Amino acid sequence: MINIRQEVPLLLYNTFGVPATASVFVESDDATELADFVRSLPDPSSAFLLGGGSNVLFVSNRCEMVIHPVIKGIEVTAETDDDVWVRAGAGEAWDDFVSWCVTRNYAGVENLSYIPGTVGASPIQNIGAYGTEAKETIETVEAVEKTTGQTVIFNNQQCQFDYRDSFFKKNKGKYLITAVQFKLSKRFEPNVKYADLKTELVRNTHMTMENIRQAVISIRSQKLPDPAELGNAGSFFKNPTINTAKSREICELDPQAPLYPVSHEYWKMSAAWLIQHCGWKGTQDGNVGAHKRQPIVIVNYGGATGKEVLDFAQKIIDSVDRKFGIRLEPEINVV
Ligand code: FAD
Ligand code: EPU
Repeated sequence: MINIRQEVPLLLYNTFGVPATASVFVESDDATELADFVRSLPDPSSAFLLGGGSNVLFVSNRCEMVIHPVIKGIEVTAETDDDVWVRAGAGEAWDDFVSWCVTRNYAGVENLSYIPGTVGASPIQNIGAYGTEAKETIETVEAVEKTTGQTVIFNNQQCQFDYRDSFFKKNKGKYLITAVQFKLSKRFEPNVKYADLKTELVRNTHMTMENIRQAVISIRSQKLPDPAELGNAGSFFKNPTINTAKSREICELDPQAPLYPVSHEYWKMSAAWLIQHCGWKGTQDGNVGAHKRQPIVIVNYGGATGKEVLDFAQKIIDSVDRKFGIRLEPEINVV
């Protein structure tokens, strides 16, 4: 059922907790109804799709049209002795979906426990954590092309998944994701490559999916600020890729610097390390700051506007660039 409201404050709809207003706010749990509504708009591409608001920063005070899909449902669509295909509505909370899978011993998303947001947003930046990315289990993405109202089904390859990237992120505003189908495994194999996870699980002799889920929740709760207490959208920046010459410069400063090879010429570097080494960790500038345990996370200490957050992020970008010659890119979506 479609629900259209005017002049809706978005403060409680974004985990940064910054103010903005939607002139029109549209909510529906029905994919066909949403497709018809979007097609009827004079400028469908300008309607902003909002999930849980955990990866957005509202910088302008006003959004003309916000569409908030609340399409629910998690169902098994096919299975074999080894695998199971599960389809989830875009409006399901991501972590409810993970919990649903873990409870049934369907493996593949347990390392992605406790990531805020919705199932519908999971393909957008190919969410990732603790050695797993959503692209490893996403089989198909069901979407409505906003300008035509047509349903399009993307297979995994067509989604063009990459680190914090996808076809949908590159083609911002063009599609409304209504459901995602995942291929999960009935044969659980623990993935404990990530150093923090290995350390957290060291006491467990019997490795279960539930143990991994609880370990991930425990690490995340210790490291990351809870948006209910301190506004934030997780990592504000992506971890940059640097070349071997730059990686050598960094190693001269700190032989233990967190660098991970991505090819024989390129390295993934920790943005948190770069930000910390520019002196930002735990700082506060007006209403905003870089978190005291994880400086890649910009926090709203209370009353910040989106513009203040963005200006602070720019100061970090400039100082990292000045000191290391590396330009950080935002991970979050600025609206
Ligand atoms: P929103 O923030 O509402 O939207 C994000 C983008 O997706 C926007 O561009 C929006 O237009 C688009 N979008 C949303 N729904 C749809 C839809 N149905 N159709 C089309 N477009 C849509 N991310 C990680 O990858 N790994 C992490 O470990 C992680 N940890 C986090 C920890 C914290 C404390 C927080 C606050 C955030 C974290 N994030 C992490 C970021 C965030 O949780 C993810 O990006 C998540 O997928 C965003 O989901 P959302 O529903 O809140 O999307
Ligand atoms: N580090 C520092 N100083 C700090 C914190 C970390 O130098 O204060 C260095 C450490 O060397 C540490 C390394 O950074 O080993 C990596 O830190 P962490 O394990 O916290 O991960 P991250 O690279 O900062 C990424 C994702 C997170 C995801 C975690 C776990 C990005 C941009 N961020 O963070 O995703 O949860 O790994 O896999 O890739 C998000 O996208 O919003 C997000 C939170």
